[in-house]
Formats: sequence, C-alpha cells, structure tokens
Amino acid sequence: MTPKEKTSALESDNGVIPKLSGDIRPLIPKLGLRNYWYPASKERSVIWRKPVKISLLGEEICLFRGATGNVVAIQDVCPHRGARLSQGHCHYPGTVACPYHGWVFDESGKNTMVLSEGPVSGVCGKPGTEAKIFPTRTLKGLVFVWIGDAEPAPIEDDVPEEFFDDALVLIGQVVWRCNWEVALENSMDSHVNYVHRNALVVARSGFIARGAQGEHPIFVGNGFAGDVGESNYLRKSPKYDVYPDGRRWPKTNYRRYWTWLFRPLAERARRHIPAPRTARWAGGHRLPGMFRTEFSWDLYTRMCVPIEENLTRVWYYHCLRPEGTFQRLWQRFLYGALHRWIIEYNFSRQDERVMLDQRYDSPEKLSGTDAEVIQWRRLVVTKHFGGRDAHYEYRNPDDIVPDQVPLGRVSVRYLQEKARAKS
Ligand code: FES
Ligand SMILES: [Fe+2]
Repeated sequence: MTPKEKTSALESDNGVIPKLSGDIRPLIPKLGLRNYWYPASKERSVIWRKPVKISLLGEEICLFRGATGNVVAIQDVCPHRGARLSQGHCHYPGTVACPYHGWVFDESGKNTMVLSEGPVSGVCGKPGTEAKIFPTRTLKGLVFVWIGDAEPAPIEDDVPEEFFDDALVLIGQVVWRCNWEVALENSMDSHVNYVHRNALVVARSGFIARGAQGEHPIFVGNGFAGDVGESNYLRKSPKYDVYPDGRRWPKTNYRRYWTWLFRPLAERARRHIPAPRTARWAGGHRLPGMFRTEFSWDLYTRMCVPIEENLTRVWYYHCLRPEGTFQRLWQRFLYGALHRWIIEYNFSRQDERVMLDQRYDSPEKLSGTDAEVIQWRRLVVTKHFGGRDAHYEYRNPDDIVPDQVPLGRVSVRYLQEKARAKS
C-alpha cells in the first residue's frame, strides 16, 4: 500500500475495508474502536452528591446517579456554553446541574430547570438543549458505557461471560502511558519467558517455556483464542538452550531451583483457575481490546481502554469461582493483600517499561510467533472500517468453524479438569 493509498484509506468513512496486506499499523484507530461497550468506572466511585469526570476514546463524560441509583453517563460539555457538568452539583436526585448558569439535566439528557433564570426561563426544555446521554450498564460493580453512535449491541457480546453469572470477579485498574494497541499487542507474542523471567509469578510457577514455533490463533467469538497445543503449560523447554557458538540461555540455573521450591504451591494455586464456560471467552484476544488468560490464580482479563492517544487505562478482571462465603472472602483478601501486587504491578510494570518508549512507526521484521499480532491488526482494521458486524476473513487451523471451536482445543484448564474428573 502506498502512502497515498494509506491516507485515503484512513479517511474512508464509507464502510470500505482497505487491503489488509503489508504494514497496516497506520490504519489502526489511535483512539480505539467505536460502537462497543467499554468499562468506564467502578460504581462505588460515583457518589450521589457530586458528579465525576471520566475520559475514554477521546470522549469526555460526566457520571452521576440516576433516580434509582443507576449510574448515568452524560457528555461533559454543557449544551449552553460549554462548561463542565462534572464540575457541577446533584441538587436533586437523578439530575446534574451545570456549575455555570445552573441548567439542570435529568438522566435522559433533558434540560429540566434553569436555576439562574427561574421557572419562567424561556430556554428551559427547548428542543436542542438536550445533552448527549451514553447508554450504561453496571455489572458486578463496574460501569460499562456504550461508546458510539449506533444503537447499542447486546452487552454480552463485548463483556466476558463471568459478568453474567455468580462468578467472583475482582477488578483492578492501572494506567499505562502508551497507546491502547501497543498495550494490547504486548500480550500476543513470545515475550513472556524473556521480559518476565524475573517476575515473582513467573519464577514461582516455572512459566519459562521457550519456543519459536508459530502460534496459531483460532478465530472464535469476537476475537482469537490460543491453541492449547502451543500452550506453555503443555510444552516443556530444555534446561537451557544452546546456540551454535556455544552460548547458553538462560545463563544460570538459579530460576529452576526457585521454581522447584515453589512448584507444589503453584500447582495448587492453578487449581483455582476456573475454565472458561465457552470457547468464545477462552484465553486469547477479544474485541474491543481484551486479553484473557488462564494464568497464575485466576482466569484473568486485561482490558485496554484508550484514554488519549498515548494513555491507556488497563482494567483487570480476575475471575474465580470459589465455593461458599468463606472462600469468596478469602479470595478477596488474597487478591487485595498479594495477587493484585504480583500481577498488576510486579508483572505488568515489566511490560509497561518496555512499551513506554517502544516505537510503533519504525519498520518491523516480524517472527512466526507474531502470527497473532498480524491477525489481530487485520481484525481491528476490518471492524474499524467495516463496522462491528463486518465479515472477517479468518484462517483457522484445521478449518475449524468459529462457532464450533471445542473448548478442549483452547482451554488447558478445561482439559486438566476433565482429566482430574476421570482419574
Ligand atoms: S454553560 Fe452550562 S449552564 Fe451555562
Ligand atoms: Fe507481558
């Protein structure tokens, strides 16, 4: 694709999907895909008396409580003269008042009072004075907002299955100073055994398999799952690799001793990881920006939400299925006291350190293990230009049909549980 073609493709708004060959990074939307549900805020951060401001996908949004306590998302620009509703007040239940001239908006966005002009105000409620409302839905204490101009799609298509049953979902968030796509691509390649070689969680569980075979993403649901045959849990590495000139990697064995010490604990912890219930929510990558994996203690999701071009809010959903109240409390405690730090800081900051200064505009020479990166970019560009229902030209191994992917093909935990039940 020539630079000129790239430019015209970028400007395309007629639903035409550009050619998906060569370097398509310039076609990826810098502020994410629109017409999807995104996590915006923890519900408990939105109090009754004061609105709060959030930014995502370049949108400035004000959150406040509706009449029944539901969280409402309204544009954070007053239709009158542009003041910020998030700096206003909630004088009456289910409303937010602009801090400037006191226009009061209800949860449908209608201007119902003008406090600075009184009940005789001629502008109050006039057509055209409404503020834009973004559809919201709160699940397990997390407020999801529909970002887009189309009618909202079913939220079950964009939010993992565990939000709709009795699973325990522990939610954390961090902010990374890089683009959302850079943040997401970080989780679809061979870096783990290298970047995270000294992460507590990796060292303790021996997740150090190396290997250069191609990783085949399997298109299923709204993204890709990983083939279990290539999982690090089913594949063993030699103690060290020897290169033709005799150099060894890893250079020392001390990680193996450490791993040996902690392996029984790590194996025990892995038993807590619930298998996904359906292949469409198995480990892998899902639109609009999720990475899911059966890792460490739980089935966890990293959801990358663009705030600005080079700022990304990363939400973590840790899914567990503990039995009984005590176990639920215990898992909550462990998360707060230990797991959160180990995964969201110790482990993930290692990723962030690499990504902060990573160039995304220099030429690339990709490896076989970058197969999912390539597929993912094609998927994102297809949906950006063609819309969320655009057909994606998938290429699955063994010609597996996306909605017939067996769970055993994409979930190690499913296979392990099945084997355990048999024995
Ligand atoms: S700018 Fe909001 S009421 Fe005037
Ligand atoms: Fe990583």
